[in-house]
Amino acid sequence: MICNHGKLNRWVEELARLCRPDAVVWCDGSRREYDEMIAITVRSGMATQLDPVKRPGCVLFRSHPSDVARVENRTYIASRTKDEAGPTNNWIDPEELKATMRGLYDGCMAGRTMYVIPFSMGPVGSPIAKIGVEITDSPYVVANMHVMTRVGDRVLEVLGEEGEFVPCLHSVGKPLAPGEDDGGLWPCAPLDQKYISHFPEERTIWSYGSGYGGNALLGKKCLALRIASVMARDEGWLAEHMLILAITNPEGKRRFVAAAFPSACGKTNLAMLIPTVPGWKVETVGDDIAWMKFDADGVLRAINPENGFFGVAPGTSMQSNPNAMHSIRRNTIFTNVALTEDNDIWWEGIGYDAPAGKIIDWKGNEWNRNPEKKGDQVAAHANSRFTAPARQCPSIAPEWEDPAGVPISAFLFGGRRPSTVPLVHQAFDWNHGVFLGSIVGSEVTAAALDLKAGTVRRDPFAMLPFCGYHMGDYFAHWIRMGTRTTAEKLPKIFYVNWFRKSSDGKFIWPGYGENSRVLKWVFERCEGTAMALETEIGFMPTPEAIDRPEGVSEADLRELLSVDREGWRREAASIHDHYASFGDRLPAELRSQLEALEKRLQ
Ligand code: GTP
Ligand code: SPV
Ligand code: MN
Repeated sequence: MICNHGKLNRWVEELARLCRPDAVVWCDGSRREYDEMIAITVRSGMATQLDPVKRPGCVLFRSHPSDVARVENRTYIASRTKDEAGPTNNWIDPEELKATMRGLYDGCMAGRTMYVIPFSMGPVGSPIAKIGVEITDSPYVVANMHVMTRVGDRVLEVLGEEGEFVPCLHSVGKPLAPGEDDGGLWPCAPLDQKYISHFPEERTIWSYGSGYGGNALLGKKCLALRIASVMARDEGWLAEHMLILAITNPEGKRRFVAAAFPSACGKTNLAMLIPTVPGWKVETVGDDIAWMKFDADGVLRAINPENGFFGVAPGTSMQSNPNAMHSIRRNTIFTNVALTEDNDIWWEGIGYDAPAGKIIDWKGNEWNRNPEKKGDQVAAHANSRFTAPARQCPSIAPEWEDPAGVPISAFLFGGRRPSTVPLVHQAFDWNHGVFLGSIVGSEVTAAALDLKAGTVRRDPFAMLPFCGYHMGDYFAHWIRMGTRTTAEKLPKIFYVNWFRKSSDGKFIWPGYGENSRVLKWVFERCEGTAMALETEIGFMPTPEAIDRPEGVSEADLRELLSVDREGWRREAASIHDHYASFGDRLPAELRSQLEALEKRLQ
């Protein structure tokens, strides 16, 4: 298809002149094109085709050991002023950053092909959807974008001659000398040359030097969260790091729930959960991002802007997440997992021992099965991932591509909190719910390269690395959204914690499918049928209101559902410090929520 969009054509020509690729290819989104991308990477030695019977249409990539996750300290919100970016984002003056990056982009695609990928975040043509165009020199990125977004001619049709799009520029940052090739290795630039940059006023993304995940698949965190959060602020909607699920009770009543947990804290798992509570059903609308708008009736409706799952591999098994395991049977791109001798995949926590024969680890070396120093010697990287089409998920909800979105009844916030935070509590009202979102904290995971795992950090709304403007203003936006409709129509807000640990360091709550017991209580609170106690921190179920799973004693459940007053007093003190960083941009409503909590705890 010929592109008739003047601005888009000029942008592509300008960047071809700057980056100087050997060729420019416009992507049409076809299966043939996807197969071609895979063929190119297999031929070059960068990808391994997996067993055609066990894993039809599947490939494995190994990245460079320095390029295995998002790089938060190289991620920039380059708004006109530092103040606009706020205290939680890295900032460089946009003109200075562009000058630096133009220098890097100059000739950066030598020896490579420049691909132009028109893509839609959200069902093509949905009133909530947005269009982006990614320019990249990575066939790996093209293949992944095919799965994660809706790519191709359909998008150009909607774009027409002057439709709006978000320009997304990406390069792996490794120009080739004449005759040189990658030698089968993953191309990327050294850390101090990596830049994941956002220009919020221009709604533009420039990414350089990394080929991995959210650094390179620019529709995901860069567009659908960092840039979209700015659009949402300006246009009165919400762009959130949330899964969306449908839950149906035994009588057939359906409700939709959206949940924000930080990276690697259980969104994909909750979205695909198989309830252990008899008669209940959970279906998946999305596993990572939700875009939400109030409709004409004042109902908040959500779409999943994505088209696939970029899920954490380790820990995914037929026991923990069978729906994910079925989703990755075919047509899946694996990155940084281990390879078995019979050309299948393996990772820690897949639910069975590594099969006999040679195992190649994520670094491409033969894996030592009996490492002396465990942990250092994992076969699959802790942030290894699968890229799989959403339509392959057995639990995908029939409404998942409804352009109008699904009506949201409840929001859940949560994170990994070994202590203090109970299994579930409910906000008294919207503003208290915004308070709960603003204090989300979690033990750090492997999803970001440059953080120390194991320490608790505040990650408000699970958006700390993904909010494209001042976090204080983002809180204010949430407060404002609560005035857009009636209290009855606003989603109810809950805080959950699957990760409470006992003194011997074990999880007290079994999690996964058993989380359906908490979802049932949430559902029944929305119906107005479940009992709750009013406590200092919010509404809580009595221990009798949650069906006790096997292996959880009465005493365990009492502990999971008690208010740890001492712990919460310490929490309140730490929230003071957290809030202090937002200065006078912290909404007064949240300050009074904190004061009210302290008073209740006295
Ligand atoms: P991102 O894709 O990084 O945004 O992560 P996510 O929020 O989708 O996390 P995911 O569902 O992939 O889970 C990450 C890790 O948490 C995996 O190792 C899971 O096994 C583990 N996990 C998920 N749910 C639970 C749970 O209910 N209990 C426990 N103990 N672990 C869980
Ligand atoms: C996350 O880190 O929250 C992810 C993976 O979902 S990435 O797309 O790499 O950001
Ligand atoms: Mn995520």
